[in-house]
Amino acid sequence: MTRRLPDRVTARAAAKVNLCLCVGPLREDGFHELQTVFQAVSLHDEVDVARADAPSLQVSGEGADDVPVDGSNLALRAVHALAAATGNDPGVAVVLRKGIPVAGGMAGGSADAAATLVACDALWGAGLSKDALAEVGATLGSDVPFSLHGGTALGTGRGEHLTPVLGQGDYAWVLALAEGGLSTPEVYGELDRQRATGPVAVASDPGAVLTALRTGDPVQLGRALSNDLQDPALALRPALRALLDAGTEHGALGAVVSGSGPTCAFLCRDDAAAVGLAATLSGLGVCRTVRRASGPVPGARVVAST
Ligand code: C5P
Repeated sequence: MTRRLPDRVTARAAAKVNLCLCVGPLREDGFHELQTVFQAVSLHDEVDVARADAPSLQVSGEGADDVPVDGSNLALRAVHALAAATGNDPGVAVVLRKGIPVAGGMAGGSADAAATLVACDALWGAGLSKDALAEVGATLGSDVPFSLHGGTALGTGRGEHLTPVLGQGDYAWVLALAEGGLSTPEVYGELDRQRATGPVAVASDPGAVLTALRTGDPVQLGRALSNDLQDPALALRPALRALLDAGTEHGALGAVVSGSGPTCAFLCRDDAAAVGLAATLSGLGVCRTVRRASGPVPGARVVAST
């Protein structure tokens, strides 16, 4: 009996915050050697995929106007990469609903690629393992394997080699979305410039975050949050300093620029504290919009198939 393949598949993938982002030297391939602890948090993008005569893309939701709809879009690139890897026809209509800020340092584009990979895998009945999808995903972006994986994980290499982190606890986050995005290559470039011209800086290390995760104590984790891209992001967007300070002054256990920014992530003691901080930051008018999220949450997965 032949297996009926679905006509349409919906998949979702989560945003991430980097609990620490320890940036090592610039490699010859243009990437930096990283040690980072990712946590997937409950802001999601969703994609629908359906067979079509030719690949196409429609985008709606948070910041949709800033998402490229040409061949550079990560969801479309994911369709082509998986089609090539599995021998399928890339004629797929992709509908993307954004819930993750665009160019916000929360791996929104990587989430789109990851969701599209799992959705197309199901649409075509390809049956690839998560590791095999992650191999394809790593060719699209450094954070795509983590977007597939989810949870909390240590990323090494350029971020694509993952080891699950043993930890406990659910964490309550407030995410403050700034006006406009920041370009990831520009923020890394600013780090290189600062390191070339300033005192010799040593990359931070993930030890404190890993220890805090083992205890599950949000106070300890809040103190351990760190990001080597924070100073470069602040140099490019000085207004973020006031936003980080406002979060700390109003009760956050820790405040950090998320990835290459400009989204700022605030860790709170519990959900009630997060509700309070979110309301306060909204009222202060120090950012464009405020979201609450919890983590860790799972990686990209199919949520409907018809
Ligand atoms: O892999 P991804 O597309 O997310 O990377 C975007 C850019 O960020 C890279 O072209 C590079 O400039 C920078 N990057 C880096 N080192 C990493 C990851 C990203 O320098 N480990």
